[in-house]
Amino acid sequence: MNLARRIERYLPQPLLELVKDISGQAAKRGERVYLVGGVVRDLLLGDPSLRSGLRFDLDLVVEGDAVKLAQQVAETSQAKLLAHHRFGTAKLRYENFTLDLATARKETYARPGALPTVAPGTLKDDLFRRDFSINAMAISLAASDYGELIDPHHGKSDLKHGLIRILHPKSFTDDATRILRAVRYEQRLGFELETQTAQLLKRDTPMLDTISGDRIRHELELILREGQPELVIKRLAELGVLPRISPFLKGDGWITEKFGRVRRLKKPNQLPSLYFCLLIYSFSERGLEQFIARLNTPAKLSQAMRDTLHLKTRLPLLDKPSLKPSEIYYLLREYEPVAVQTNALASDSSVIQHHLQLFLTKLRYVKTSLDGEELKKLGIPAGPEMGKVLQTLHKAKLDGEVSTKADERRLALSFRPDYKGRGGRRPQSHSKNAPPR
Ligand code: CTP
Repeated sequence: MNLARRIERYLPQPLLELVKDISGQAAKRGERVYLVGGVVRDLLLGDPSLRSGLRFDLDLVVEGDAVKLAQQVAETSQAKLLAHHRFGTAKLRYENFTLDLATARKETYARPGALPTVAPGTLKDDLFRRDFSINAMAISLAASDYGELIDPHHGKSDLKHGLIRILHPKSFTDDATRILRAVRYEQRLGFELETQTAQLLKRDTPMLDTISGDRIRHELELILREGQPELVIKRLAELGVLPRISPFLKGDGWITEKFGRVRRLKKPNQLPSLYFCLLIYSFSERGLEQFIARLNTPAKLSQAMRDTLHLKTRLPLLDKPSLKPSEIYYLLREYEPVAVQTNALASDSSVIQHHLQLFLTKLRYVKTSLDGEELKKLGIPAGPEMGKVLQTLHKAKLDGEVSTKADERRLALSFRPDYKGRGGRRPQSHSKNAPPR
């Protein structure tokens, strides 16, 4: 099958020219270049994201020396080069896209879960080391057979029949991240696991224990970047995979409903952390600490998840309609906003939801107009007293007792030691309301 017309139709023109140029330079070196991996799969599927130019990363395999070729290309173009001599790979970064060039290689695994030992190989070797048949196809970019599909594992047929198939029975033991990847592609594409693949996936699920926390977390992050990650989570639960990551993870109707609501918030930057915080919402503190240790989660995400569970225990305090804005603020100010948002999504009480949203949309941005310098000019002495005056002003502003700068000035003056000759009013402190850590 020749896909030349499809390539020309789907790839943005500048990218196409670049890829042809690279292939031309390779030919002069006596080497061949192929398009591989996800882009071949998506070209065959006619994925519209290719056409709109949304997909900017291409994987190229070089039968030859990918690093030397990339160095040569970088010298004659605007690309930034990042070479990994040890792995025989190089990244060429252009303004609008990135090309990953890899020397065709063979991989062997010393033991399950270990990173593979790599040696130069042919294109066929390189395709055989891949995860699934639909990801193990290549398209030739050489002038002599430009556009020719190379499909030794019948990926095109599996695409047609909607099947996710591993290439050999040891695939999941070699690399158990493929268990998570299989389900991610299955659900993204609306496919099914091929029968033997499904059997081996279940048999080899314990192999996930051989994978490092960082790699498991990376795969989870990829899942959470999918359009509907809840489908993947639900399916992983059905297959018995989720408990292998943490016995407390669930893929039930609650997760499905809440994940859908997260997306309606339209806060794409917060999406992955909100999903993580929802995933651990039913965990005990101990369960969460095990999860954090297993996945080696970065500090900020770990804090957001801990805050989520801590705030959950304090929600009853927020279930009073009569709470003043300042009381809400002092209850919530120490928590990561993602933790507050997660609790707003999780709570069934409209009063709690309202208070949490008020904090997120308004209260956390409230600032006094006067600062320490201005208070000094008004005769408030620096030191702990000034801190308390600032806090009193802030509280008054939160509660709508002052609104203009003149209001704040009047209130601040009432705390001057000589105020009306009564030694000044004493500002109140709110620190007792701060959540314990
Ligand atoms: N690959 C693999 N095993 C892995 C990771 C990657 O075999 N554990 C191979 C697959 O051939 C895959 C290619 O490397 O197609 C590129 O990997 P990646 O960028 O993760 O995936 P894409 O196929 O590009 O898919 P996506 O649409 O998810 O980006």
